[in-house]
Amino acid sequence: NRHLLGIEGMSAAEILALLDLAEEAVEVSRQIEKKKTVLRGRTQINLFFEASTRTQSSFELAGKRLGADVMNMAVANSAVKKGETLIDTAMTLNAMRPDILVVRHHAAGAVELLAQKVSCSVINAGDGVHEHPTQALLDALTIRRHKGAIDQLTVAICGDIAHSRVARSNILLLNALGARVRVVGPSTLLPTGIERLGVDVFTDMRSGLADADIVMMLRLQRERMEGSFVPSVREYFHFFGLDEAKLAWAKPDALVMHPGPMNRGVEIDSAVADGRRSLIGEQVEMGVAVRMAVLEALAAHLPNA
Ligand code: CP
Repeated sequence: NRHLLGIEGMSAAEILALLDLAEEAVEVSRQIEKKKTVLRGRTQINLFFEASTRTQSSFELAGKRLGADVMNMAVANSAVKKGETLIDTAMTLNAMRPDILVVRHHAAGAVELLAQKVSCSVINAGDGVHEHPTQALLDALTIRRHKGAIDQLTVAICGDIAHSRVARSNILLLNALGARVRVVGPSTLLPTGIERLGVDVFTDMRSGLADADIVMMLRLQRERMEGSFVPSVREYFHFFGLDEAKLAWAKPDALVMHPGPMNRGVEIDSAVADGRRSLIGEQVEMGVAVRMAVLEALAAHLPNA
């Protein structure tokens, strides 16, 4: 495919091929001479309409490590501020003939809409509450490096499921690879019909974490709650914040993940986030490798490749 818009529709074989490519990219990234040349002469534009630390910087590093010319579009200083639409902005950039657009937008479906208009490859770096495919891929790579085959695992995704594109992409990917997937959170933060995605649903941490191999915590996304239900931090942490006591309900060798950004003391305690069972730092490292793999895979579909 020319684009990466979501995990939905990807086969297990396609996912595993990307993870294998990312495994090679980990080795490249750890070498002193980090560059490959597969994107030499290519232009990659990162177009982020929402804030990002991890995704944008790792896409920039990934593109540069593959030899691309990478431009970060400063949306805050762009004509978007003068009312230019998403599509007009994208078509303007498209006219400069980039090869790859990496796009984050606050509206679900916006990245797919944009992909239909432009002539270059498009990568979804997160669209509203819809999908964040490279996050799910980097999470899978991190899990696989520690636990081996994913199909034997029970993964508990905990917290604000309703507002999380990370949860959605992870559910799709982990199910495609045969894991048992649970979602755990207050009923107000679990979307109706979530079980149709093939997950077991829990509204308390003790039963949701029992026998879990991986505990994946999510940020409480208060900015997406529009005043409907905003739990108090103290109460939320008491019932759903991951601390050492709650982690003891999972398997003794369970590992802890969080896509970031973290709200310490809200959904996760610092002792767990910084503890020996935390994979959070490694997730960030795998982010660069996975984005290199995705860019490299798309490179084969670029014109004159
Ligand atoms: N996990 C993630 O998408 O982080 P950023 O918002 O910092 O990119």
